[in-house]
Amino acid sequence: MKTKIAVAKGDGIGPEIMDAVLRVFAANDVPLEYEFVEMGKSYFDAGHSTGMTAKAKETIENLGILFKGPMETPKGKGVKSINVTARKVWNTYANQRDFRTLNGVETVFSKAGIPINLTIIRENIEDTYGGIEHLLTYDVAVGRRIITRPGSAQVIRYAFEMARRKGYTKLACGHKANIMKLTDGLFLETFQEIAKEYPDIQSSDIIVDDLCMKLVTRPDNFQAIVLTNLQGDIVSDLCAGLVGGLGFAPSANIGDNISIFEAVHGTAPDIMGKGIANPTALLLSGILMLRYMGYTENAATIENSLLYTLEHGVHTGDFGNKSITAATTNGFADAIIDNLGKVPSDGGVVGKGNTEIRSNLHTHLLKNKLTVTKGIEEEMVGVDVFVESNDLQPNELAELAKKRLTDNFNLVMISNRGTQVWPTGSIYTELVNEYRVRFEKKAGVTVTQKELLHIAADFSQDAKVCSVEFLMKFGGKIGYTLAQGQ
Ligand code: NAI
Repeated sequence: MKTKIAVAKGDGIGPEIMDAVLRVFAANDVPLEYEFVEMGKSYFDAGHSTGMTAKAKETIENLGILFKGPMETPKGKGVKSINVTARKVWNTYANQRDFRTLNGVETVFSKAGIPINLTIIRENIEDTYGGIEHLLTYDVAVGRRIITRPGSAQVIRYAFEMARRKGYTKLACGHKANIMKLTDGLFLETFQEIAKEYPDIQSSDIIVDDLCMKLVTRPDNFQAIVLTNLQGDIVSDLCAGLVGGLGFAPSANIGDNISIFEAVHGTAPDIMGKGIANPTALLLSGILMLRYMGYTENAATIENSLLYTLEHGVHTGDFGNKSITAATTNGFADAIIDNLGKVPSDGGVVGKGNTEIRSNLHTHLLKNKLTVTKGIEEEMVGVDVFVESNDLQPNELAELAKKRLTDNFNLVMISNRGTQVWPTGSIYTELVNEYRVRFEKKAGVTVTQKELLHIAADFSQDAKVCSVEFLMKFGGKIGYTLAQGQ
């Protein structure tokens, strides 16, 4: 019985490397059938604003697995990257990237005899990748960083499950919760909660800058690391560099219903059509896919053959021993095919037989899933009004704000770029033309959202209001940060 998956060959070198990988699969009788879907640059150019046809979308949603080559995002046409959009709309919340030392791929660490075998799990939907940004004044741009409890829980639980499946003994959470106390704080808190369900995995947390320093000195001290989206993006490319570059970096975008497997690198337009591209990253992504689907035997055979081939010095032009003639993309695939059944000198990977096939568990949804934590007591305590002022000093703005106070409120502080400038501050704090003015209710009174909006509306008579954020308490804890210096 063959399982059907959707395949998009992609742009640039995509078709060359995808054809090479599918030839390796065929030579190993991988029990997959392919439905090729129309996605990529030419579909943007043909007027499909999402970069794919409606039929492609339907096929991918029906089959649940997409194996894709790199795709080009047309520049300057106001379109969003199809790669990012696909990951977001289909909620592939966990981006898994495996990095390991490959014999035949020389790196600083391979020369030093330090073996690397680590997995980065990056949250794939949230964070600054929501792309919600505004210019509040001509001088001031702000972006929303969205970190959610359900979104964090999904990816962190996946990371623990993956660690268990791979036989890892430890999982670290990379974060910057010392600075971003509510966003990264929520991610870290969720990690610590979920860790209690996995006593067999040693959990720890590490501040992301310290993590980078430790990764470039002793990467062998890490097995798996889970991170928020932007930090995970940066750290995973750092890890690609540790094992030989993007040509060796596979990636799985895992969701509950739809998952996407692709190489980390792009379309490599500079070498497109020359038949010299390195198919290793896409092949490694395909191996991740086979393993995810349950075809562990095929995955092991192909991986062993790839490792054996690399160990014997076969390489494309972008890496390897320059004294050995570089293979073409097809020549490299042929060598892997010839070596199927062989194992590398370290014994390679042991196949455990093909198991239950994952894509058959794919659920067809009838409505969007909505996850909410219920039963949390909440209280409204005030409002931050962000205003533009091109000439007022903090104390002058405070006098205007005080005029708008009603009996229920206090003017608590004014900040500029997050630093308090009123009631106390330093004359050396440089200002830009956007202030945050914080109004809080007095103790013992209850206020409504309408009253808070009134304050902002009244204040707009004195200064241009750029935006408004409500100050909330959840379960008795404040749900907003204090200004630096407050
Ligand atoms: P790139 O990864 O395509 O190329 C960077 C450099 O690495 C180039 O010198 C290229 O020749 C080389 N390279 C990449 N893959 C290679 C391979 N398999 N074998 C040998 N050499 C390889 O990055 P770039 O130039 O920034 O992006 C080109 C296009 O790819 C852009 O349109 C970008 O939007 C798209 N892109 C798509 C991705 C995806 O589909 N997931 C990811 C990254 C970029």
